[in-house]
Amino acid sequence: MALPNQRCSNSCSFCKNVSKCLSYTESARNSRKYIKTQCYLKPKSYQRKTMEILPLHLGVKNLVDSGLHKVPDIYIQSKEGRPNAVHREESFPVLDLGAALNSSKARAALVSQIREACVNWGFFQVINHGVPHSLVDEMQSVAREFHALPNEEKMRYFSTDIESRMRYGTSFNITQDKVFSWRDFLRHSCLPLSEIQNLWPDKPGSYRKVTANYSTRVRNLAKFILELISESLDLPKDYIDKAFNGCSQVMALNFYPACPEPDLVLGIAPHSDPGSITLLLQDHVEGLQVMHGNEWYSVKPIPYSFVVNLGDQIQILSNDKYKSPEHRAVVNSSEDRMSIPVAMGPSWESLVLPASELVEGSPVFKPMVYRDYMAAMQAGGLHRKWVLDALRI
Ligand code: OGA
Ligand code: NI
Repeated sequence: MALPNQRCSNSCSFCKNVSKCLSYTESARNSRKYIKTQCYLKPKSYQRKTMEILPLHLGVKNLVDSGLHKVPDIYIQSKEGRPNAVHREESFPVLDLGAALNSSKARAALVSQIREACVNWGFFQVINHGVPHSLVDEMQSVAREFHALPNEEKMRYFSTDIESRMRYGTSFNITQDKVFSWRDFLRHSCLPLSEIQNLWPDKPGSYRKVTANYSTRVRNLAKFILELISESLDLPKDYIDKAFNGCSQVMALNFYPACPEPDLVLGIAPHSDPGSITLLLQDHVEGLQVMHGNEWYSVKPIPYSFVVNLGDQIQILSNDKYKSPEHRAVVNSSEDRMSIPVAMGPSWESLVLPASELVEGSPVFKPMVYRDYMAAMQAGGLHRKWVLDALRI
């Protein structure tokens, strides 16, 4: 499949760093060479040369907008990795937080519901969570407006630096991904708010204001849920907050364009989230799937709900009592899909290890500083739960 001979505007640091203009040709793709690099946990890592992915770094939306009927090979999943038939399950845990926000009796009932959801699924949806619907609507509109901006504007934020506190990108880590994901994203830190806010996009005009408000409200909700999770493990309610030295918070605006061959690609490959919990807002388009008992289940969107999933640090802290679920996103041929995950985590310098109160016998995981855990995952890419598995004793 021929790709357009295209480079982005000079404002993109990626193109500026490529010494001569190169079109992305079939032969360049076939002669792909990898430079070996050292990665934190994964010695056999590789790095793709930047010129080999031009102009795919401009993103999936750019590819689709240029009129495309077949997906380029680099997006095609192996036969085993392709989206297959999924179970549709109506009995996913949906927790109503409304009453528990004000009554201690209702709170105790909610703690046992959370325990059950964490043991059986590792994820649940929350409704009546207190984040105003109008703010959710505003967040979704600024996110859509951002992805609809011209390339030149979005590429101002493009970076392949995985440690960058804010970057626009595509797939997951294009210098590493063997198969690209059908996803464009803006990903940025939310803390400390007063400092980071000035790095966020200045277009759309209300982005900073809406996102500051949204990320603050969602952070407060996350703190409440982490208290309930602490209690569900028979620990004091502030246990996780203390063990993690407060929190880090990163959010993403994921955009999954409609795809001409959705059965061949994935919006995001199977993975578990590295942090403590993620609160994900989906739009009305189905696409998120969660692994349960070795089968994929599609999580039907409930308007104004959040999908909460446990991350690896809760699995580590709980010494394997709770598991971070693997999940992935699929795409479809008729509609774009957007999701906004807010990923909470321990503070970056926290050393995370199993809670001694929960260890009977020996701990199941080695300790690791959260910053290093994240760096390893970002560098090594999305492959199921490889970072967690590497820490297993
Ligand atoms: C993620 C993720 C799923 C989705 O960004 O980590 O799992 O539905 N996204 O977008
Ligand atoms: Ni995820």
